[in-house]
Amino acid sequence: MIEAIADQLARARRVLFITGAGISADSGLPTYRGTGGLYDGRHTEEGISIERALSGPMFRSRPEITWKYLAQIEETCRGAQPNAAHAAIVYLERRLPYVLTLTQNVDGLHRAAGSREVIEIHGGLHELYCPRCGYAEAVETLAGRQLPPPCPDCGAILRPAVVLFDEALPVAALERLDTALDEGFDMVFTIGTSATFPYIVQPVVMALQDGVPTVEINPTRTPLSEHVDFYLPLGAAAAMSAIVDAYERT
Ligand code: APR
Repeated sequence: MIEAIADQLARARRVLFITGAGISADSGLPTYRGTGGLYDGRHTEEGISIERALSGPMFRSRPEITWKYLAQIEETCRGAQPNAAHAAIVYLERRLPYVLTLTQNVDGLHRAAGSREVIEIHGGLHELYCPRCGYAEAVETLAGRQLPPPCPDCGAILRPAVVLFDEALPVAALERLDTALDEGFDMVFTIGTSATFPYIVQPVVMALQDGVPTVEINPTRTPLSEHVDFYLPLGAAAAMSAIVDAYERT
């Protein structure tokens, strides 16, 4: 199966990689769902769901609660390095005519690995902005910062440029994705995502409808697993390393 995937890659001109928290699991970051996930079904100490704690309405009413869990997620990212799966996508981006990475991850690891064509559909943890006055700053880490961070210009509470629950996706990111999908792809990979959201599933469904080869890499089956052309029940780093090795032999 790995050789067949590599053969398809060698002929592909436009490849889409859709990634989720699982691609960063091999960098030591926890996923959101499934065993050991940040959400793993538990309610927060405040007795509310994690989705409510990390929601836009909660940020507006009780920003200290949202920041408490944002800080937990950011803390898990500290010191995390891209892994072989991120590097494999960079390798292919530099050798194939066009590679686009659509990621749900807010950890910044695709860009840190050297990917240039990246759509961060849930934004990024390391860009802060003031919802009141528009002040903005990029940060390496939140370690040592007063949390919630006050805006140095107007004193309101800063927030990260991430999509919180019950918030709209960034329009620019959606428009860029629509344009790329309109141009079409020869191959679509989904790596390390539970395929929770329709905008993540849709490009795979479009590929299936158009007869475009589809690959899913995830040790646990998802609703997509029975439909894709190639389902690899493997970790992202192991699978993508094997695929690149086979690609180099084509
Ligand atoms: N390699 C590949 N996949 C893995 C690995 C690994 N080493 N380890 C775990 N996985 C898989 C899990 O089986 C799971 O299906 O990664 C997936 C992670 O799923 P989620 O935790 O739901 O993460 P994701 O799909 O990215 O969630 C989407 O939900 O809460 C929001 O904003 C949050 O971006 C997140 C979004």
